[in-house]
Amino acid sequence: MSYYKINNLEQYFKHYNKSIREPRKFWGKIAEENFVWYQGWDKVLDFDMGEAQVKWFTDAKVNIVKNCIDRHLAKRGDKTAIIFEPNNPEEAAQHISYNDLYDRVSKMANVLREQGIKKGDRVCIYLPMIPELAVSVLACARIGAIHSVVFAGFSASAVASRIIDCECKMVITSDGAFRGNKSIDLKGIIDEALEKCPSVTKVLVAKRTNTAVNMKEGRDQWLQPLVDAAVPNCVAEIMDAEDPLFILYTSGSTGKPKGMLHTTAGYMVQTAYSFKNIFNYEENDIFWCTADIGWITGHSYILYGPLLNGATTVIFEGIPSYPDFGRFWEVIDKHKVTQFYTAPTAIRSLAKENDEWVDKYDLSTLKVIGSVGEPINEEAWHWYNDHVGKKKCPVVDTWWQTETGSIMISPIPFVTPTKPTYATLPLPGIQPVLMDEKRNEIEGNQVVGSLCIKFPWPSMARTIWGDHERYKETYFSAFPGKYFTGDGALRDEVGYYRITGRVDDVVIVSGHNLGTAPIEDAINEHPAVAESAIVGFPHDIKGNALYGFIILKETGEYRDRDNLTREINEHISSHIGPIAKLDKIQFVSGLPKTRSGKIMRRILRKIAEGDFSNFGDTTTLLNPEIVDEIKSNRV
Ligand code: WTA
Repeated sequence: MSYYKINNLEQYFKHYNKSIREPRKFWGKIAEENFVWYQGWDKVLDFDMGEAQVKWFTDAKVNIVKNCIDRHLAKRGDKTAIIFEPNNPEEAAQHISYNDLYDRVSKMANVLREQGIKKGDRVCIYLPMIPELAVSVLACARIGAIHSVVFAGFSASAVASRIIDCECKMVITSDGAFRGNKSIDLKGIIDEALEKCPSVTKVLVAKRTNTAVNMKEGRDQWLQPLVDAAVPNCVAEIMDAEDPLFILYTSGSTGKPKGMLHTTAGYMVQTAYSFKNIFNYEENDIFWCTADIGWITGHSYILYGPLLNGATTVIFEGIPSYPDFGRFWEVIDKHKVTQFYTAPTAIRSLAKENDEWVDKYDLSTLKVIGSVGEPINEEAWHWYNDHVGKKKCPVVDTWWQTETGSIMISPIPFVTPTKPTYATLPLPGIQPVLMDEKRNEIEGNQVVGSLCIKFPWPSMARTIWGDHERYKETYFSAFPGKYFTGDGALRDEVGYYRITGRVDDVVIVSGHNLGTAPIEDAINEHPAVAESAIVGFPHDIKGNALYGFIILKETGEYRDRDNLTREINEHISSHIGPIAKLDKIQFVSGLPKTRSGKIMRRILRKIAEGDFSNFGDTTTLLNPEIVDEIKSNRV
């Protein structure tokens, strides 16, 4: 019996119990039977949760790209690896076979080597969802360079801070990006960012929009001529199991983004294993995940997970509403997609349009549909199940994080049952627990608590780039010996998990993880602003939206509040990106603070939600009178 594929409920429990009793044996067997290694491991696992030190498959040697591409060539060389569906439906889709992908990645990897990139160097990738993005990521991994993909919706200063933090030597970008009926000047954003980034000596520019851009002499080069001139084969770098694979930035509760570092072998093993089971993947399926490769979902389930399984994966450049609200469904129909994986915010925005948009397409190829990024509400779950899955496709509500690398809690289609709004059961090998305020593990069912994971798993992030102390402090200090997710959850009467949302200062807006601290930092830089506090409040489409409480300086220069509101949002847009704009801004004369000076966000959250019923204990407030003022001026 293979541990790699779970076929029925009995097998799930068997595997699950075994994975808890003998985690090393469990993961060891999966690793051994399903990948190609240059050299096996010494120990499957070596760890110290207290120090936040975890190593999987110690001393093993492997290259993830050889596992994603080379080993498939004999059997699947002509099979399509990537279907590229452009923003404009009139532009032809591209089918890139495993042979083509091998050639493109090898040449790109040779370009990187010729440009002086070596194992361990950091390369920032700031590209739209075009094949060059996938090829660049895989080329880095082939030669052991650490990729740091930055979502191409981030502003110049957000990109700059990420480049500076991990001292990238190179940036790979494009002239521009298409997004619906707009085009975005990516190269201009990079030029602005690089004014502050002395570590970057080379910029490679892919052509996408054919717009005129500035090319800086000695630094910038067009990508295509270099690729055309490159030699074809590229010997893959032999990587240690724990060598870094990539850095991906995520928001935290301070202004500085956290560069989550993922390493090679453990990430490879769990992304492949989870992909196979959670999407019930079978040969010849066409898998489509609508996330951007700039987020972890795209890393693990557009690229690595599918390619490790020799699958066909769709890369979609566009947006769900262009040229109309039927685009997702048209693409499923056109490419005969069998698994579709998207975010609740996209589901909600399409569910509010006329059902004809979805009903007119043939979605009969679909087998499994998935959701990720935030809690999916009951209404959206049912709409998705009824109109997209036609009640015959299990909805996999997958819970996981940038930090966890792969899916952790999710139904397994046709194996474990689904339940609306529930992520249900942990994947074998994953040990979630709920903790109470006194840091005790909560036993039994029908309970609520803080979600922790009490045993290491292969694809967990190993550290925060350059700041292991922060990693330890953020994830391993609240509940000693355990990894704290930052989420709250409940466990129902049969033991299914439902994630209730963040319990820290991160707000998830349209599936994007936004820390309130960096937004506050950006606002506070505006000359009129003295202080600010941002909280999330429920929003029909976005899940959450942002509400800003802002104290102005007493200079009186900025009397026009409408103008100021606009300026503050422009400021946020240029410092972080348009995704972080505030839906509501309220100017206040003070903020509710504890005696130790901490803003009581709990109260602000309730006011933003319009729930004035029970503010809880306000006796520790330094200025309780401010609460009434804020309440009565709520916008
Ligand atoms: C939230 C995305 C409820 C959660 C893969 C988590 C979810 C954060 C779900 C991580 C889900 C993700 N149900 N909440 N199925 N999936 N989340 O790092 O709060 O962008 O901590 O990773 O998204 O977001 P991230």
